[in-house]
Amino acid sequence: MRRSLGRYDTPRPLSQAVADWAVRSPNDEALEPSSGSGVFILSLAHRLRQLGQKSAIDQLWACDIDSAACTQTIQATGLNKRHIWNADFLSLISTDGINGRKFDCIVGNPPYISLHRMSVEQRQRVSDSVDRLKLDIGRRASLWAYFLSASIHALRLHGRVAFILPESILHAEYALAIVRTFAKSFVRCSLVSLRERCFILDGAAERVVVLLADDFRSVLGQTEISLHECVTADSAISFLTSLRNGTASALPSLNGHAVPHLLPPTAEPIIELATVKQSYQLGDFVDIKIGVVTGADQFFLLSESQREKLKLRRAWLMPVVPRFKECHGLTFCRKDWRSLRDRGQKCWLLAPSPEITAKALLSYLATFPVESKKLNRTFTKRKHWFSPVPGRKAHAFLRYMGTAGPRLAFARFNVNCTNIIHRVYFHKDVSVLKRKAILLSLHSSYSQLSAEFEGRAYGSGVLKLEPSEGRRIRFLLPEKLNKNVIDACFKAANKLMKKGDSTGATAVIDDWLFHGIQSLQAALPRQRLFAVLKTTIQRRLGYPQHFMTAVIHRNGSIDSASENQFSPSTLRNTQSAALKSYPRQIELLQAK
Ligand SMILES: C[S@@+](CC[C@H](N)C(=O)[O-])C[C@H]1O[C@@H](n2cnc3c(N)ncnc32)[C@H](O)[C@@H]1O
Repeated sequence: MRRSLGRYDTPRPLSQAVADWAVRSPNDEALEPSSGSGVFILSLAHRLRQLGQKSAIDQLWACDIDSAACTQTIQATGLNKRHIWNADFLSLISTDGINGRKFDCIVGNPPYISLHRMSVEQRQRVSDSVDRLKLDIGRRASLWAYFLSASIHALRLHGRVAFILPESILHAEYALAIVRTFAKSFVRCSLVSLRERCFILDGAAERVVVLLADDFRSVLGQTEISLHECVTADSAISFLTSLRNGTASALPSLNGHAVPHLLPPTAEPIIELATVKQSYQLGDFVDIKIGVVTGADQFFLLSESQREKLKLRRAWLMPVVPRFKECHGLTFCRKDWRSLRDRGQKCWLLAPSPEITAKALLSYLATFPVESKKLNRTFTKRKHWFSPVPGRKAHAFLRYMGTAGPRLAFARFNVNCTNIIHRVYFHKDVSVLKRKAILLSLHSSYSQLSAEFEGRAYGSGVLKLEPSEGRRIRFLLPEKLNKNVIDACFKAANKLMKKGDSTGATAVIDDWLFHGIQSLQAALPRQRLFAVLKTTIQRRLGYPQHFMTAVIHRNGSIDSASENQFSPSTLRNTQSAALKSYPRQIELLQAK
Protein backbone atom coordinates (compact mmCIF):
# COMPACT_ATOMS: atom_id res chain seq x y z
CA MET A 1 0.00 0.00 0.00
CA ARG A 2 2.88 2.34 0.82
CA ARG A 3 4.22 1.67 -2.66
CA SER A 4 0.95 2.33 -4.44
CA LEU A 5 0.68 5.65 -2.58
CA GLY A 6 4.34 6.49 -3.18
CA ARG A 7 4.96 6.74 0.53
CA TYR A 8 8.57 7.43 1.50
CA ASP A 9 9.09 9.47 4.59
CA THR A 10 11.58 12.31 4.37
CA PRO A 11 14.40 12.14 6.93
CA ARG A 12 13.68 14.81 9.47
CA PRO A 13 16.92 16.83 9.16
CA LEU A 14 16.30 17.20 5.44
CA SER A 15 12.67 18.28 5.87
CA GLN A 16 13.84 20.72 8.55
CA ALA A 17 16.43 22.29 6.26
CA VAL A 18 13.80 22.63 3.51
CA ALA A 19 11.20 24.09 5.90
CA ASP A 20 13.78 26.47 7.36
CA TRP A 21 14.43 27.80 3.87
CA ALA A 22 10.75 28.04 2.92
CA VAL A 23 9.43 29.92 5.97
CA ARG A 24 10.68 33.49 6.22
CA SER A 25 8.41 35.18 8.72
CA PRO A 26 6.55 34.14 11.89
CA ASN A 27 3.30 35.03 10.14
CA ASP A 28 3.82 32.79 7.12
CA GLU A 29 1.06 30.28 6.40
CA ALA A 30 2.19 26.98 4.88
CA LEU A 31 0.73 23.97 3.12
CA GLU A 32 2.07 20.40 2.85
CA PRO A 33 0.03 18.69 0.09
CA SER A 34 0.97 15.05 0.85
CA SER A 35 1.84 15.00 4.53
CA GLY A 36 2.52 11.28 5.18
CA SER A 37 3.66 10.99 8.79
CA GLY A 38 3.68 14.77 9.15
CA VAL A 39 7.42 15.30 9.16
CA PHE A 40 7.20 18.53 7.17
CA ILE A 41 4.41 19.87 9.40
CA LEU A 42 6.67 19.21 12.41
CA SER A 43 9.54 20.97 10.69
CA LEU A 44 7.41 23.94 9.64
CA ALA A 45 6.04 24.32 13.15
CA HIS A 46 9.55 24.18 14.57
CA ARG A 47 10.72 26.90 12.20
CA LEU A 48 7.74 29.16 12.95
CA ARG A 49 8.35 28.75 16.67
CA GLN A 50 12.02 29.62 16.20
CA LEU A 51 10.90 32.80 14.49
CA GLY A 52 8.82 33.64 17.54
CA GLN A 53 5.37 32.42 16.51
CA LYS A 54 3.50 31.18 19.60
CA SER A 55 0.64 29.41 17.83
CA ALA A 56 2.70 27.95 15.00
CA ILE A 57 0.49 24.95 14.37
CA ASP A 58 -2.51 27.17 13.56
CA GLN A 59 -0.67 28.48 10.51
CA LEU A 60 -0.20 25.11 8.94
CA TRP A 61 -2.42 23.06 6.62
CA ALA A 62 -1.95 19.57 5.23
CA CYS A 63 -3.49 17.11 2.83
CA ASP A 64 -3.05 13.38 2.22
CA ILE A 65 -5.13 10.89 0.29
CA ASP A 66 -4.44 8.23 2.88
CA SER A 67 -6.62 8.50 6.00
CA ALA A 68 -3.99 6.64 8.05
CA ALA A 69 -1.42 9.26 7.02
CA CYS A 70 -3.80 12.06 8.08
CA THR A 71 -4.25 10.43 11.48
CA GLN A 72 -0.48 10.06 11.80
CA THR A 73 0.04 13.70 10.89
CA ILE A 74 -2.49 14.85 13.49
CA GLN A 75 -1.04 12.60 16.19
CA ALA A 76 2.56 13.55 15.45
CA THR A 77 2.03 17.29 15.18
CA GLY A 78 -1.14 18.24 17.02
CA LEU A 79 -2.49 19.77 13.80
CA ASN A 80 -6.08 20.97 14.03
CA LYS A 81 -8.44 18.47 12.28
CA ARG A 82 -9.93 21.34 10.31
CA HIS A 83 -6.47 22.06 8.92
CA ILE A 84 -6.02 18.70 7.21
CA TRP A 85 -7.82 17.43 4.14
CA ASN A 86 -8.07 13.69 3.67
CA ALA A 87 -8.35 14.05 -0.08
CA ASP A 88 -6.65 13.76 -3.43
CA PHE A 89 -4.63 16.97 -3.67
CA LEU A 90 -5.14 17.26 -7.41
CA SER A 91 -8.94 17.14 -7.00
CA LEU A 92 -8.87 19.48 -4.01
CA ILE A 93 -6.96 22.30 -5.62
CA SER A 94 -8.55 24.80 -8.00
CA THR A 95 -7.30 27.95 -9.69
CA ASP A 96 -8.45 29.79 -6.51
CA GLY A 97 -6.26 27.68 -4.26
CA ILE A 98 -7.81 25.30 -1.78
CA ASN A 99 -11.35 26.32 -0.81
CA GLY A 100 -10.31 29.84 -1.72
CA ARG A 101 -7.25 29.72 0.55
CA LYS A 102 -3.71 30.44 -0.64
CA PHE A 103 -0.41 30.07 1.22
CA ASP A 104 2.94 31.83 1.67
CA CYS A 105 4.80 28.61 1.15
CA ILE A 106 4.15 25.10 -0.05
CA VAL A 107 6.56 22.39 0.94
CA GLY A 108 6.72 18.62 0.80
CA ASN A 109 7.79 15.45 -0.84
CA PRO A 110 5.01 14.44 -3.25
CA PRO A 111 4.34 10.85 -4.39
CA TYR A 112 6.76 9.68 -7.11
CA ILE A 113 4.36 7.39 -8.96
CA SER A 114 5.14 6.95 -12.65
CA LEU A 115 2.37 6.83 -15.22
CA HIS A 116 2.59 3.08 -15.72
CA ARG A 117 2.28 2.47 -11.97
CA MET A 118 -0.77 4.70 -11.57
CA SER A 119 -4.15 3.05 -11.07
CA VAL A 120 -7.01 3.85 -13.44
CA GLU A 121 -8.47 6.21 -10.79
CA GLN A 122 -5.14 7.98 -10.27
CA ARG A 123 -4.84 8.53 -14.03
CA GLN A 124 -8.38 9.85 -14.21
CA ARG A 125 -7.75 12.33 -11.39
CA VAL A 126 -4.54 13.46 -13.08
CA SER A 127 -6.36 13.91 -16.37
CA ASP A 128 -9.16 15.93 -14.72
CA SER A 129 -6.66 18.22 -13.01
CA VAL A 130 -4.78 18.81 -16.27
CA ASP A 131 -8.02 20.07 -17.83
CA ARG A 132 -9.31 22.00 -14.82
CA LEU A 133 -6.02 23.75 -14.01
CA LYS A 134 -4.80 23.91 -17.62
CA LEU A 135 -1.51 22.27 -16.68
CA ASP A 136 1.05 22.39 -19.45
CA ILE A 137 2.67 18.95 -19.02
CA GLY A 138 0.54 16.49 -20.96
CA ARG A 139 -0.76 13.28 -19.46
CA ARG A 140 2.32 11.08 -19.42
CA ALA A 141 4.22 12.55 -16.49
CA SER A 142 4.75 11.05 -13.03
CA LEU A 143 2.42 12.07 -10.21
CA TRP A 144 4.95 14.37 -8.54
CA ALA A 145 5.02 16.54 -11.68
CA TYR A 146 1.28 17.25 -11.44
CA PHE A 147 1.61 18.09 -7.74
CA LEU A 148 4.36 20.55 -8.53
CA SER A 149 2.53 22.21 -11.41
CA ALA A 150 -0.75 22.40 -9.52
CA SER A 151 0.81 23.82 -6.35
CA ILE A 152 1.37 27.22 -7.96
CA HIS A 153 -2.41 27.76 -7.88
CA ALA A 154 -2.39 27.70 -4.10
CA LEU A 155 0.55 30.09 -3.73
CA ARG A 156 0.30 33.74 -2.69
CA LEU A 157 2.20 36.40 -4.57
CA HIS A 158 5.90 36.44 -3.45
CA GLY A 159 5.43 32.95 -2.02
CA ARG A 160 7.95 30.09 -1.96
CA VAL A 161 7.74 26.49 -3.11
CA ALA A 162 10.17 23.85 -1.81
CA PHE A 163 9.76 20.26 -2.88
CA ILE A 164 11.87 17.15 -2.64
CA LEU A 165 11.58 15.55 -6.07
CA PRO A 166 12.94 12.54 -7.88
CA GLU A 167 16.06 12.98 -9.99
CA SER A 168 13.97 12.67 -13.14
CA ILE A 169 13.25 16.40 -12.86
CA LEU A 170 16.70 16.80 -14.41
CA HIS A 171 16.17 14.63 -17.44
CA ALA A 172 12.53 13.66 -18.09
CA GLU A 173 11.13 15.35 -21.19
CA TYR A 174 7.95 16.41 -19.37
CA ALA A 175 9.99 17.89 -16.53
CA LEU A 176 11.59 20.44 -18.82
CA ALA A 177 8.20 22.14 -19.33
CA ILE A 178 7.73 22.40 -15.55
CA VAL A 179 11.22 23.71 -14.99
CA ARG A 180 10.56 26.38 -17.62
CA THR A 181 7.22 27.34 -16.06
CA PHE A 182 8.91 27.72 -12.69
CA ALA A 183 11.73 29.72 -14.25
CA LYS A 184 9.14 32.09 -15.68
CA SER A 185 7.04 32.40 -12.54
CA PHE A 186 9.65 32.86 -9.80
CA VAL A 187 12.36 35.44 -9.34
CA ARG A 188 14.86 32.80 -8.19
CA CYS A 189 14.91 29.06 -8.71
CA SER A 190 17.44 26.47 -7.59
CA LEU A 191 17.72 22.75 -7.98
CA VAL A 192 19.87 21.05 -5.39
CA SER A 193 20.81 17.57 -6.53
CA LEU A 194 21.65 15.13 -3.79
CA ARG A 195 23.87 12.18 -4.73
CA GLU A 196 23.33 10.22 -1.54
CA ARG A 197 20.17 8.15 -1.58
CA CYS A 198 17.80 9.32 1.11
CA PHE A 199 15.16 6.60 1.03
CA ILE A 200 17.37 3.53 1.22
CA LEU A 201 15.86 2.63 4.58
CA ASP A 202 12.43 2.64 2.90
CA GLY A 203 13.77 0.34 0.17
CA ALA A 204 13.92 2.97 -2.58
CA ALA A 205 17.05 3.62 -4.65
CA GLU A 206 15.69 6.91 -5.99
CA ARG A 207 17.96 9.92 -5.79
CA VAL A 208 16.40 13.27 -5.09
CA VAL A 209 16.64 16.88 -6.13
CA VAL A 210 15.36 19.69 -3.93
CA LEU A 211 13.53 22.38 -5.86
CA LEU A 212 13.58 25.81 -4.24
CA ALA A 213 11.46 28.44 -5.97
CA ASP A 214 11.46 31.89 -4.46
CA ASP A 215 9.28 34.98 -4.94
CA PHE A 216 6.29 33.93 -6.98
CA ARG A 217 5.01 36.41 -9.60
CA SER A 218 2.07 35.84 -11.89
CA VAL A 219 4.02 36.90 -14.98
CA LEU A 220 7.76 37.27 -15.22
CA GLY A 221 10.41 36.85 -17.89
CA GLN A 222 12.73 33.88 -18.05
CA THR A 223 14.75 33.41 -14.88
CA GLU A 224 17.90 31.36 -14.75
CA ILE A 225 17.64 28.15 -12.80
CA SER A 226 20.70 27.33 -10.80
CA LEU A 227 21.81 23.79 -10.23
CA HIS A 228 23.93 22.68 -7.33
CA GLU A 229 25.15 19.23 -6.54
CA CYS A 230 25.69 17.90 -3.03
CA VAL A 231 27.31 14.55 -2.50
CA THR A 232 25.92 13.76 0.93
CA ALA A 233 22.74 14.70 2.72
CA ASP A 234 24.84 16.45 5.35
CA SER A 235 26.37 18.71 2.72
CA ALA A 236 22.93 19.35 1.18
CA ILE A 237 21.63 20.46 4.56
CA SER A 238 24.62 22.77 5.07
CA PHE A 239 24.06 24.11 1.57
CA LEU A 240 20.37 24.83 2.20
CA THR A 241 21.36 26.58 5.39
CA SER A 242 23.90 28.69 3.55
CA LEU A 243 21.26 29.64 0.98
CA ARG A 244 19.02 30.81 3.79
CA ASN A 245 21.80 32.90 5.24
CA GLY A 246 22.65 34.31 1.84
CA THR A 247 26.23 33.00 1.98
CA ALA A 248 26.04 30.56 -0.94
CA SER A 249 28.46 31.13 -3.77
CA ALA A 250 27.29 31.67 -7.34
CA LEU A 251 25.80 28.59 -8.93
CA PRO A 252 26.13 27.22 -12.43
CA SER A 253 23.12 27.45 -14.69
CA LEU A 254 20.96 24.62 -15.83
CA ASN A 255 21.18 24.15 -19.55
CA GLY A 256 18.56 22.40 -21.67
CA HIS A 257 19.72 19.00 -20.60
CA ALA A 258 21.38 18.66 -17.26
CA VAL A 259 22.53 15.58 -15.49
CA PRO A 260 23.62 16.11 -11.93
CA HIS A 261 26.58 13.77 -11.97
CA LEU A 262 28.41 16.04 -14.38
CA LEU A 263 28.69 18.83 -11.88
CA PRO A 264 31.59 18.88 -9.48
CA PRO A 265 30.71 19.65 -5.85
CA THR A 266 32.58 22.91 -6.04
CA ALA A 267 30.50 23.83 -9.10
CA GLU A 268 33.57 24.84 -11.07
CA PRO A 269 32.98 25.10 -14.83
CA ILE A 270 32.90 21.71 -16.43
CA ILE A 271 35.15 20.70 -19.28
CA GLU A 272 33.97 22.03 -22.65
CA LEU A 273 33.91 19.28 -25.27
CA ALA A 274 32.26 20.96 -28.24
CA THR A 275 34.95 23.59 -28.77
CA VAL A 276 37.78 21.08 -29.24
CA LYS A 277 39.00 20.99 -32.85
CA GLN A 278 38.22 17.92 -34.97
CA SER A 279 35.21 17.18 -32.79
CA TYR A 280 31.92 16.07 -34.34
CA GLN A 281 28.48 15.01 -33.28
CA LEU A 282 27.44 11.44 -33.98
CA GLY A 283 24.04 12.51 -35.29
CA ASP A 284 25.73 14.27 -38.23
CA PHE A 285 26.95 10.90 -39.54
CA VAL A 286 24.43 8.32 -38.40
CA ASP A 287 20.82 7.80 -37.55
CA ILE A 288 19.94 5.84 -34.43
CA LYS A 289 16.74 3.89 -34.04
CA ILE A 290 15.38 1.59 -31.38
CA GLY A 291 15.44 -2.17 -32.03
CA VAL A 292 12.46 -4.32 -32.98
CA VAL A 293 9.51 -4.01 -30.61
CA THR A 294 8.03 -7.49 -30.19
CA GLY A 295 5.44 -6.79 -27.49
CA ALA A 296 6.24 -10.16 -25.89
CA ASP A 297 9.94 -11.10 -25.97
CA GLN A 298 9.26 -14.32 -24.08
CA PHE A 299 7.07 -15.51 -26.94
CA PHE A 300 8.96 -14.14 -29.93
CA LEU A 301 12.53 -14.90 -28.87
CA LEU A 302 13.43 -18.53 -29.15
CA SER A 303 16.47 -20.75 -28.73
CA GLU A 304 17.55 -23.24 -31.36
CA SER A 305 16.23 -26.20 -29.35
CA GLN A 306 12.83 -24.49 -28.93
CA ARG A 307 12.74 -23.78 -32.64
CA GLU A 308 13.49 -27.39 -33.46
CA LYS A 309 11.00 -28.74 -30.95
CA LEU A 310 8.24 -26.49 -32.31
CA LYS A 311 9.21 -27.40 -35.88
CA LEU A 312 9.47 -23.74 -36.84
CA ARG A 313 11.34 -23.21 -40.09
CA ARG A 314 14.42 -21.00 -40.17
CA ALA A 315 12.81 -18.87 -42.86
CA TRP A 316 10.16 -17.72 -40.37
CA LEU A 317 12.73 -16.41 -37.93
CA MET A 318 15.71 -14.11 -38.05
CA PRO A 319 18.95 -14.07 -36.05
CA VAL A 320 19.11 -11.48 -33.26
CA VAL A 321 21.64 -10.35 -30.67
CA PRO A 322 19.70 -11.01 -27.47
CA ARG A 323 21.70 -8.59 -25.26
CA PHE A 324 24.44 -6.10 -26.07
CA LYS A 325 26.86 -7.83 -23.72
CA GLU A 326 27.02 -10.63 -26.30
CA CYS A 327 28.93 -8.21 -28.58
CA HIS A 328 32.32 -8.78 -27.06
CA GLY A 329 34.38 -6.96 -29.62
CA LEU A 330 33.86 -4.13 -32.06
CA THR A 331 32.05 -6.37 -34.53
CA PHE A 332 29.30 -8.93 -34.25
CA CYS A 333 29.62 -11.58 -36.94
CA ARG A 334 27.95 -14.83 -37.89
CA LYS A 335 30.49 -16.83 -35.91
CA ASP A 336 29.54 -14.93 -32.72
CA TRP A 337 25.87 -15.59 -33.36
CA ARG A 338 26.41 -19.30 -34.01
CA SER A 339 28.24 -19.57 -30.76
CA LEU A 340 25.21 -18.05 -28.98
CA ARG A 341 22.91 -20.42 -30.79
CA ASP A 342 25.01 -23.44 -29.83
CA ARG A 343 25.05 -22.31 -26.21
CA GLY A 344 21.23 -22.41 -26.14
CA GLN A 345 20.69 -18.62 -26.09
CA LYS A 346 17.39 -17.17 -27.30
CA CYS A 347 18.86 -15.68 -30.44
CA TRP A 348 16.06 -16.31 -32.92
CA LEU A 349 13.29 -13.76 -33.46
CA LEU A 350 10.03 -15.11 -34.79
CA ALA A 351 8.90 -12.78 -37.59
CA PRO A 352 6.91 -14.85 -40.07
CA SER A 353 5.37 -13.31 -43.13
CA PRO A 354 1.56 -13.10 -42.75
CA GLU A 355 0.86 -15.44 -45.68
CA ILE A 356 2.37 -18.49 -44.03
CA THR A 357 -0.28 -20.99 -42.97
CA ALA A 358 1.95 -23.91 -41.99
CA LYS A 359 0.45 -26.02 -39.23
CA ALA A 360 3.52 -25.83 -36.98
CA LEU A 361 3.47 -22.05 -37.06
CA LEU A 362 -0.28 -21.76 -36.48
CA SER A 363 -0.09 -24.22 -33.58
CA TYR A 364 2.63 -22.14 -31.91
CA LEU A 365 0.75 -18.88 -32.47
CA ALA A 366 -2.35 -20.46 -30.95
CA THR A 367 -0.48 -20.92 -27.66
CA PHE A 368 -0.47 -17.17 -27.02
CA PRO A 369 -3.25 -16.48 -24.43
CA VAL A 370 -6.25 -14.84 -26.11
CA GLU A 371 -6.88 -12.37 -23.28
CA SER A 372 -3.25 -11.20 -23.16
CA LYS A 373 -3.37 -10.76 -26.92
CA LYS A 374 -6.31 -8.37 -26.63
CA LEU A 375 -4.65 -6.36 -23.87
CA ASN A 376 -1.27 -6.14 -25.57
CA ARG A 377 -0.88 -2.56 -26.77
CA THR A 378 1.94 -3.35 -29.19
CA PHE A 379 -0.11 -6.01 -30.91
CA THR A 380 -3.04 -3.67 -31.45
CA LYS A 381 -0.71 -1.21 -33.16
CA ARG A 382 0.61 -3.56 -35.83
CA LYS A 383 -1.24 -5.11 -38.72
CA HIS A 384 -0.47 -8.74 -37.84
CA TRP A 385 0.03 -9.27 -34.14
CA PHE A 386 2.33 -12.29 -34.73
CA SER A 387 4.69 -10.52 -37.08
CA PRO A 388 7.01 -7.92 -35.47
CA VAL A 389 8.23 -5.33 -37.96
CA PRO A 390 11.93 -6.08 -38.52
CA GLY A 391 12.85 -2.79 -40.20
CA ARG A 392 16.05 -2.12 -42.13
CA LYS A 393 19.21 -4.07 -41.44
CA ALA A 394 21.39 -2.04 -39.09
CA HIS A 395 25.03 -1.20 -39.81
CA ALA A 396 25.93 -1.32 -36.15
CA PHE A 397 24.45 -1.80 -32.68
CA LEU A 398 24.66 0.75 -29.89
CA ARG A 399 24.30 -0.27 -26.27
CA TYR A 400 21.18 1.26 -24.70
CA MET A 401 22.21 0.96 -21.07
CA GLY A 402 25.20 -0.14 -19.08
CA THR A 403 27.61 0.93 -16.41
CA ALA A 404 30.09 2.31 -18.95
CA GLY A 405 29.39 3.78 -22.30
CA PRO A 406 29.03 4.19 -25.16
CA ARG A 407 29.65 0.81 -26.81
CA LEU A 408 29.15 0.06 -30.50
CA ALA A 409 29.67 -3.00 -32.66
CA PHE A 410 29.37 -3.44 -36.41
CA ALA A 411 26.62 -5.86 -37.48
CA ARG A 412 28.61 -7.95 -39.94
CA PHE A 413 25.75 -10.07 -41.29
CA ASN A 414 21.96 -9.93 -41.53
CA VAL A 415 21.34 -9.83 -37.81
CA ASN A 416 18.74 -7.82 -35.91
CA CYS A 417 18.06 -6.82 -32.30
CA THR A 418 15.08 -6.09 -30.07
CA ASN A 419 14.50 -2.73 -28.44
CA ILE A 420 16.93 -3.31 -25.58
CA ILE A 421 19.64 -2.40 -28.11
CA HIS A 422 19.68 0.54 -30.56
CA ARG A 423 20.28 0.20 -34.30
CA VAL A 424 22.78 2.50 -35.97
CA TYR A 425 22.58 3.50 -39.65
CA PHE A 426 25.49 5.38 -41.21
CA HIS A 427 24.57 8.05 -43.72
CA LYS A 428 25.17 6.88 -47.29
CA ASP A 429 28.03 9.30 -47.94
CA VAL A 430 30.13 8.06 -45.00
CA SER A 431 32.93 5.92 -46.43
CA VAL A 432 33.80 2.49 -45.09
CA LEU A 433 37.04 3.80 -43.61
CA LYS A 434 35.28 6.70 -41.92
CA ARG A 435 32.66 4.35 -40.46
CA LYS A 436 35.44 2.30 -38.94
CA ALA A 437 37.15 5.42 -37.57
CA ILE A 438 33.91 6.74 -36.07
CA LEU A 439 33.07 3.45 -34.41
CA LEU A 440 36.57 3.30 -32.96
CA SER A 441 36.56 6.89 -31.82
CA LEU A 442 33.29 6.43 -29.93
CA HIS A 443 35.18 4.20 -27.51
CA SER A 444 37.66 6.94 -26.61
CA SER A 445 37.76 8.66 -23.22
CA TYR A 446 36.55 11.83 -24.92
CA SER A 447 33.38 10.16 -26.24
CA GLN A 448 32.83 8.33 -22.99
CA LEU A 449 32.77 11.66 -21.22
CA SER A 450 30.45 13.08 -23.84
CA ALA A 451 28.09 10.12 -23.29
CA GLU A 452 28.14 10.83 -19.56
CA PHE A 453 27.04 14.38 -20.28
CA GLU A 454 24.31 13.40 -22.71
CA GLY A 455 22.98 10.22 -21.14
CA ARG A 456 20.79 9.73 -18.11
CA ALA A 457 22.02 8.24 -14.89
CA TYR A 458 19.61 5.93 -13.20
CA GLY A 459 19.29 5.20 -9.49
CA SER A 460 21.20 1.95 -9.82
CA GLY A 461 24.09 3.84 -11.44
CA VAL A 462 23.33 2.65 -14.96
CA LEU A 463 23.85 5.10 -17.81
CA LYS A 464 21.02 5.08 -20.33
CA LEU A 465 21.29 6.52 -23.82
CA GLU A 466 18.08 7.18 -25.71
CA PRO A 467 18.49 7.49 -29.51
CA SER A 468 18.29 11.31 -29.33
CA GLU A 469 20.99 11.34 -26.66
CA GLY A 470 23.12 8.92 -28.66
CA ARG A 471 22.94 11.28 -31.62
CA ARG A 472 24.35 14.09 -29.43
CA ILE A 473 27.46 12.16 -28.37
CA ARG A 474 30.60 13.84 -29.62
CA PHE A 475 33.66 12.12 -31.04
CA LEU A 476 37.07 13.10 -32.43
CA LEU A 477 38.52 12.30 -35.82
CA PRO A 478 42.00 13.15 -37.10
CA GLU A 479 41.90 15.38 -40.16
CA LYS A 480 43.55 12.74 -42.35
CA LEU A 481 42.33 9.20 -41.98
CA ASN A 482 45.20 6.79 -42.52
CA LYS A 483 43.85 3.34 -43.47
CA ASN A 484 46.83 1.39 -42.11
CA VAL A 485 46.77 3.23 -38.80
CA ILE A 486 43.00 2.81 -38.42
CA ASP A 487 43.09 -0.87 -39.33
CA ALA A 488 45.89 -1.51 -36.85
CA CYS A 489 44.11 0.43 -34.11
CA PHE A 490 40.84 -1.36 -34.83
CA LYS A 491 42.53 -4.74 -34.68
CA ALA A 492 44.28 -3.98 -31.40
CA ALA A 493 41.20 -2.45 -29.75
CA ASN A 494 38.98 -5.27 -30.96
CA LYS A 495 41.33 -7.86 -29.52
CA LEU A 496 41.46 -6.11 -26.14
CA MET A 497 37.68 -5.70 -26.05
CA LYS A 498 37.22 -9.39 -26.75
CA LYS A 499 39.49 -10.17 -23.82
CA GLY A 500 37.26 -7.97 -21.65
CA ASP A 501 39.88 -5.20 -21.37
CA SER A 502 37.79 -2.22 -22.46
CA THR A 503 40.07 0.17 -20.55
CA GLY A 504 43.00 -1.12 -22.58
CA ALA A 505 41.03 -0.68 -25.81
CA THR A 506 40.17 2.89 -24.81
CA ALA A 507 43.84 3.63 -24.09
CA VAL A 508 44.84 2.37 -27.58
CA ILE A 509 42.14 4.53 -29.19
CA ASP A 510 43.14 7.55 -27.08
CA ASP A 511 46.75 7.08 -28.25
CA TRP A 512 45.59 7.13 -31.87
CA LEU A 513 43.55 10.31 -31.36
CA PHE A 514 46.14 12.19 -29.30
CA HIS A 515 48.81 11.37 -31.90
CA GLY A 516 46.57 12.06 -34.87
CA ILE A 517 45.20 15.42 -33.64
CA GLN A 518 48.14 17.70 -32.92
CA SER A 519 46.20 20.38 -31.05
CA LEU A 520 44.32 17.97 -28.81
CA GLN A 521 46.75 17.73 -25.91
CA ALA A 522 46.91 21.52 -25.58
CA ALA A 523 43.14 21.97 -25.88
CA LEU A 524 42.21 19.09 -23.64
CA PRO A 525 45.13 17.70 -21.63
CA ARG A 526 44.82 13.96 -21.37
CA GLN A 527 45.23 14.04 -17.61
CA ARG A 528 42.42 16.53 -17.19
CA LEU A 529 40.17 14.47 -19.46
CA PHE A 530 40.84 11.37 -17.36
CA ALA A 531 40.31 13.21 -14.12
CA VAL A 532 36.94 14.65 -15.17
CA LEU A 533 35.82 11.35 -16.68
CA LYS A 534 36.80 9.50 -13.57
CA THR A 535 34.97 11.86 -11.22
CA THR A 536 31.92 11.84 -13.45
CA ILE A 537 31.71 8.07 -13.52
CA GLN A 538 32.41 7.89 -9.80
CA ARG A 539 29.46 10.13 -9.12
CA ARG A 540 27.16 8.20 -11.37
CA LEU A 541 28.08 4.84 -9.95
CA GLY A 542 28.35 5.94 -6.37
CA TYR A 543 30.95 3.20 -6.35
CA PRO A 544 34.17 4.43 -7.81
CA GLN A 545 36.47 1.53 -7.21
CA HIS A 546 36.43 -0.53 -10.34
CA PHE A 547 37.01 2.42 -12.59
CA MET A 548 39.72 3.81 -10.38
CA THR A 549 41.64 0.59 -10.25
CA ALA A 550 41.54 0.39 -14.02
CA VAL A 551 42.82 3.94 -14.41
CA ILE A 552 45.54 3.51 -11.83
CA HIS A 553 46.65 0.36 -13.59
CA ARG A 554 47.02 2.06 -16.97
CA ASN A 555 47.95 5.56 -15.92
CA GLY A 556 49.70 5.28 -12.59
CA SER A 557 50.99 8.82 -12.67
CA ILE A 558 47.52 10.31 -12.99
CA ASP A 559 45.63 8.77 -10.17
CA SER A 560 46.41 8.91 -6.53
CA ALA A 561 44.41 7.65 -3.60
CA SER A 562 43.82 11.22 -2.45
CA GLU A 563 41.73 11.85 -5.55
CA ASN A 564 39.16 9.46 -4.21
CA GLN A 565 37.15 12.17 -2.52
CA PHE A 566 34.41 9.98 -1.15
CA SER A 567 34.56 6.37 -0.21
CA PRO A 568 32.22 3.89 -1.87
CA SER A 569 30.55 3.16 1.42
CA THR A 570 29.51 6.80 1.84
CA LEU A 571 27.49 6.67 -1.30
CA ARG A 572 26.31 3.11 -1.50
CA ASN A 573 24.67 1.80 1.61
CA THR A 574 25.37 3.84 4.64
CA GLN A 575 23.63 7.09 5.28
CA SER A 576 24.88 10.44 6.39
CA ALA A 577 24.67 11.01 10.09
CA ALA A 578 21.90 13.46 9.26
CA LEU A 579 19.76 10.75 7.72
CA LYS A 580 20.01 8.44 10.67
CA SER A 581 18.08 9.02 13.85
CA TYR A 582 16.78 12.39 14.85
CA PRO A 583 15.74 13.27 18.38
CA ARG A 584 12.12 13.10 17.38
CA GLN A 585 10.84 12.61 20.93
CA ILE A 586 12.42 15.88 21.96
CA GLU A 587 10.80 17.53 18.99
CA LEU A 588 7.39 16.12 19.91
CA LEU A 589 7.78 17.43 23.42
CA GLN A 590 8.66 20.84 22.03
CA ALA A 591 5.60 20.73 19.80
CA LYS A 592 3.36 20.02 22.75
C1 LIG B 1 6.67 10.46 -0.63
S1 LIG B 1 5.40 10.41 0.55
C2 LIG B 1 5.83 11.81 1.41
C3 LIG B 1 5.25 11.94 2.75
C4 LIG B 1 5.71 13.19 3.46
N1 LIG B 1 5.46 14.36 2.67
C5 LIG B 1 7.18 13.12 3.77
O1 LIG B 1 7.96 13.82 3.15
O2 LIG B 1 7.58 12.33 4.62
C6 LIG B 1 4.00 10.80 -0.42
C7 LIG B 1 2.68 10.93 0.30
O3 LIG B 1 1.71 11.31 -0.69
C8 LIG B 1 0.47 10.76 -0.35
N2 LIG B 1 -0.34 10.77 -1.58
C9 LIG B 1 -0.30 9.92 -2.62
N3 LIG B 1 -1.17 10.29 -3.56
C10 LIG B 1 -1.76 11.43 -3.12
C11 LIG B 1 -2.73 12.31 -3.66
N4 LIG B 1 -3.23 12.07 -4.85
N5 LIG B 1 -3.12 13.37 -2.93
C12 LIG B 1 -2.58 13.60 -1.70
N6 LIG B 1 -1.66 12.80 -1.14
C13 LIG B 1 -1.24 11.75 -1.84
C14 LIG B 1 0.83 9.39 0.19
O4 LIG B 1 -0.20 8.88 1.01
C15 LIG B 1 2.12 9.69 0.94
O5 LIG B 1 1.85 9.94 2.29
